[in-house]
Amino acid sequence: MQKTGIAILCLMIALLTGGVLGIAGAGESESEVCIPMGSISLAAPDSVEPQRPGVEFPHSVHFDYSCKECHHKWDNESAIQGCMTSGCHDLTESPEKPVKHLQYTDEAIIYYKFAFHKQCIGCHKELKELNREAAEALRLNDDDTRLSATGPTGCKACHAVEE
Ligand code: HEC
Ligand code: HEC
Ligand code: HEC
Repeated sequence: MQKTGIAILCLMIALLTGGVLGIAGAGESESEVCIPMGSISLAAPDSVEPQRPGVEFPHSVHFDYSCKECHHKWDNESAIQGCMTSGCHDLTESPEKPVKHLQYTDEAIIYYKFAFHKQCIGCHKELKELNREAAEALRLNDDDTRLSATGPTGCKACHAVEE
């Protein structure tokens, strides 16, 4: 995963630790969080012969979401790790087939491709489905500007980086 040439924003943030609403043990701690702004180039690990060009992921376009929506193992304090960090989604081959489209077992999701597809395509698809329902209920066209922006779900829209 390459992050060279993109701006990194570092902030000192005060974090509430220990719990919600003043439960015993709650306290504040300062911690530095660095966020790559702009786009992050995602690509297959070196040991994989890629079938598709890599993906330009516009990180900062996604900051309406909580960081933990994607960085789901983040403890709010330590440095945020990449998705393919050892012990995370670090398999370079699938141990088994998907249960069905975008549905994987706990073993299969360790395969990095399934993890990315589930998270990226999963969310974009869900948003498209919500738009479809809204458009139907309100009798809008699919491209009505009042519908929310979603991300791409087509292969080439994501895998578009020039080799
Ligand atoms: C929509 C999903 C998504 C959201 C929301 C998101 N990120 Fe990320 N972030 C990613 C992905 C994907 C990467 C690339 C990970 C990789 O290289 O394996 C990344 C990379 C990073 C990295 C670099 C990690 C490394 O490999 O060194 C940091 C730091 C980071 N994000 C911080 C944040 C912070 C802070 C927030 C909240 C403001 C945030 N991200 C929100 C998906 C997201
Ligand atoms: C939790 C939901 C969510 C997740 C997870 C998510 N996205 Fe998105 N994505 C969005 C939304 C919402 C937009 C539309 C944002 C906008 O245009 O304002 C978007 C837009 C995009 C766009 C188009 C940006 C543009 O400027 O047109 C790309 C490319 C994209 N996402 C790639 C990815 C990739 C790659 C991942 C996984 C690493 C990912 N997204 C994960 C919600 C998500
Ligand atoms: C929302 C973005 C998104 C969409 C849509 C998407 N992918 Fe991916 N895909 C990724 C990301 C991110 C990775 C991990 C980075 C990489 O390997 O390029 C990945 C990895 C892969 C890989 C493993 C790496 C390689 O090149 O061999 C294959 C194969 C792949 N995708 C095929 C597809 C196909 C086929 C489709 C359409 C059915 C598709 N992808 C749609 C984001 C996407």
